[in-house]
Amino acid sequence: MLVMVTGAAGFIGSHLVDRLLADGHEVVGVDDLSSGANVRPDVELWELDVADPALAERAAARRPEVVCHLAAQVSVRASVADPGHDARTNVLGTANVLEAVRAAGGRKVVFASSCAVYGVPDALPVPPDAELRPASPYAASKVSGEVYAQTYRALHGVDFTTLTLANVYGPRQTPEGEAGVVSIFTDALLDGRATQVYGDGTQTRDYVYVLDVVDAFARAVDERGGGRRLNVGTGLQTTDRELHTLVAAAAGAPDEPEFAPPRLGDLPAMAIDPGPTLGALGWAPRVSLPDGLAATVAWARERR
Ligand SMILES: NC(=O)c1ccc[n+]([C@@H]2O[C@H](COP(=O)([O-])OP(=O)(O)OC[C@H]3O[C@@H](n4cnc5c(N)ncnc54)[C@H](O)[C@@H]3O)[C@@H](O)[C@H]2O)c1
Repeated sequence: MLVMVTGAAGFIGSHLVDRLLADGHEVVGVDDLSSGANVRPDVELWELDVADPALAERAAARRPEVVCHLAAQVSVRASVADPGHDARTNVLGTANVLEAVRAAGGRKVVFASSCAVYGVPDALPVPPDAELRPASPYAASKVSGEVYAQTYRALHGVDFTTLTLANVYGPRQTPEGEAGVVSIFTDALLDGRATQVYGDGTQTRDYVYVLDVVDAFARAVDERGGGRRLNVGTGLQTTDRELHTLVAAAAGAPDEPEFAPPRLGDLPAMAIDPGPTLGALGWAPRVSLPDGLAATVAWARERR
């Protein structure tokens, strides 16, 4: 089938393009190349802002069956500093992408949401039906995207699956995203520079490997998981201090971080329950954190 991938030149989007092509799909990418730089010369790419109304016209002519919507302003901190820019890309952009799916007569959108929508939850790992408690403009924009997807299903019969992503890491990642700390530790430790852990190092995150994440998207492009929010994470918490130890081991570097004051607004703990995703998509994470970090460090080492 023809699948449109927004954010196709980004970290996760570029791996998704590779996976969809390997599965035998035809792919058209959309990306304004504002941060993404992973462009495949053999894939059709529309260099376009997802908020540009021209997207619907072009989609109507090309008629993708499914759209995987990953293009976004991805930084929580940048969303606090400039909520208008975040909303323009993530709220207006998502509304515009949904309009493009409708104009194309598309069947489904698979939407990349974030575990940030859960804020400070009552219990960990967070189930996908937990109350949404966005605590940043970025999280609010992702909740908005989810609600828009529900609205287009009710109004126009465009199906959706929302994939709520934990902290995604792996080759091609940049320091800006939600698992940017993996990239920051990796680069510093390979260069022999000092590393910093904020607070006492007990803050936790749920790290999921990028090839596991694109496997969930690849499964959701068919009918499975329609009308649902599904968690794409491991359910496991890793502390910042443990992560440093693991990256240092993979890099063959000393495990000696400096400690810096905690950063305002950082959530204390996160892990999301992937259990229902197994039933809905047959998906479970497969790559362990040490194995995924070894592959990530090897990639970073190779491009030096
Ligand atoms: N990386 C993570 O840990 C993580 C966690 C949760 C959710 N997500 C979500 O997954 C998606 C992909 O994230 P990523 O980590 O690959 O980020 P990324 O920054 O590598 O990719 C985003 C891509 O979108 C493009 N883009 C940005 N604004 C655009 C616009 N207005 N029009 C067109 N293209 C635009 C960028 O050029 C980039 O290629 C995002 O929606 C993000 O919010 C990521």
